[in-house]
Amino acid sequence: MIALAKPMLGIEEKILVNEVLSSGKLAQGEYVERFERDFAVFQGSKHCVATSSGTSALHAALLSLGIKPGDKVITTPFSFIATANAILYVQAVPVFCDIDLQDYNISPQELLDTIKKHPDAKAIIIVHLYGYPAHMAELMVIADKYNLAVIEDCAQAHGASINGKKVGTFGHFGVFSFYPTKNMTCGEGGMLATWDKELAERARRLINHGQTAKYQHDVLGYNYRMTNIHAAIGIEQLHKLTGFNERRKTIAARYSREITNPAFIKPVCLPGFEHVYHQYTLWVNNRNSFIEFLETQGIGYGIHYPAAIPDQPLYQQGEILGFFTNARVAAERVVSIPVHPGLTEQEVDYIVSSLQKYA
Ligand SMILES: Cc1ncc(COP(=O)(O)O)c(C=O)c1O
Repeated sequence: MIALAKPMLGIEEKILVNEVLSSGKLAQGEYVERFERDFAVFQGSKHCVATSSGTSALHAALLSLGIKPGDKVITTPFSFIATANAILYVQAVPVFCDIDLQDYNISPQELLDTIKKHPDAKAIIIVHLYGYPAHMAELMVIADKYNLAVIEDCAQAHGASINGKKVGTFGHFGVFSFYPTKNMTCGEGGMLATWDKELAERARRLINHGQTAKYQHDVLGYNYRMTNIHAAIGIEQLHKLTGFNERRKTIAARYSREITNPAFIKPVCLPGFEHVYHQYTLWVNNRNSFIEFLETQGIGYGIHYPAAIPDQPLYQQGEILGFFTNARVAAERVVSIPVHPGLTEQEVDYIVSSLQKYA
């Protein structure tokens, strides 16, 4: 079976992790600081704060922005559940804004319609799904006009950019995940990136028990710290990220060129937009028959995601705000095929020729 995802770890990660183990300083410390500095340089962000996961980073971002119980926060209905759950963590109210079926990201037009119905919304979490940047220029104009704080969920989009500007640098916070299936990993981990010193300081306090000086706690905080062990992996993975992304793009370019079977609609990538292909996701009308076919061919696949977030049982408990017609349709059609940098040329050949055969 060709795996859908595969973390790419080498001797470099092992050496640096060993260095941490030998130092005996396993928890948050100098390796975390180094990873934060390196990530800030890579991003072109002023401040970076490392966390225990992408989910904890989303939570800390909402808290740092002062989102309170009852506040409305707009987000996409078509993402991993963590995006919307972070809104529930702060007892705020998610308002779902439908996606554009061209790229599966929040549609600027839908955002305008959503704001008309919910002019009191305080913030928006925009996801760059599958590694493809959302239309940030248009979305930021709308967010600025209506005073929305902006969090970019870049959990799937490390290194993606629009006209050379990295995702995660448009809004107040860029939030990253380093889960093992992502474009780079720490095992588990997350990162908050921001240009705003005060927001960064707030986030740094919140992820460390609200501590302002040793054993002085001014606000309720959490233990969302990254460890030196995880940071050591992250430092080396960051060195390799551009290479990983280039390999993903090369494989994706082959799929886009060589898969000509009309059964599939392939991902779009507009000029100026840099897609980092966390997933290469096809639109297929008869998904069940296609996934049966992939199983017989020994090709791993993923469904990201099989339900719109508001259709999940967790979200059925109260009133659901917003629209998600397109998200519901996408949830029935999308299938991701392997595009990770560990694929061999033979595996890519095999995937292309198999998909060409599918009837
Ligand atoms: C879009 C999105 N947001 C948030 C998360 C949460 O990140 P983590 O698993 O690191 O908590 C993930 C990934 O798992 C994700 O894909």
